[in-house]
Amino acid sequence: MTTIAITGATGHLGRLVVDRLLARGIAADHVVAVVRNPTKAADLAARGVDVRRGDYTDPAALPAALAGVDVLLLVSGSGSFSPSTLR
Ligand SMILES: NC(=O)c1ccc[n+]([C@@H]2O[C@H](COP(=O)([O-])OP(=O)(O)OC[C@H]3O[C@@H](n4cnc5c(N)ncnc54)[C@H](OP(=O)(O)O)[C@@H]3O)[C@@H](O)[C@H]2O)c1
Repeated sequence: MTTIAITGATGHLGRLVVDRLLARGIAADHVVAVVRNPTKAADLAARGVDVRRGDYTDPAALPAALAGVDVLLLVSGSGSFSPSTLR
């Protein structure tokens, strides 16, 4: 099964996407919520979502956060950061 990651999953749009994927029957363990603060996503983890720490300002941590992911929905943060971070 395809594994789908959503960044900004603690935010408004990210949560909507996670909810919609689960409602469509995507297995929770194939939904990866990439978040800055996993404690803010405890409710998602309790639903079986694979919660991983990831911050656009910490590019070294992103490969681990996205390991095994087939499809990425990158929801931009509301703060400012350099696009070069994501290269
Ligand atoms: N909501 C709308 O109707 C709408 C419409 C058009 C465009 N947008 C744009 O879409 C984006 C998301 O909107 P939203 O309403 O979901 O915003 P939001 O509720 O403020 O959520 C922003 C998300 O981005 C995360 N985030 C912020 N900085 C980050 C970083 N450095 N690394 C990783 N994650 C980071 C936040 O994490 P924390 O929870 O840790 O803060 C949060 O999960 C924004 O850029 C917004 O301008 C939104």
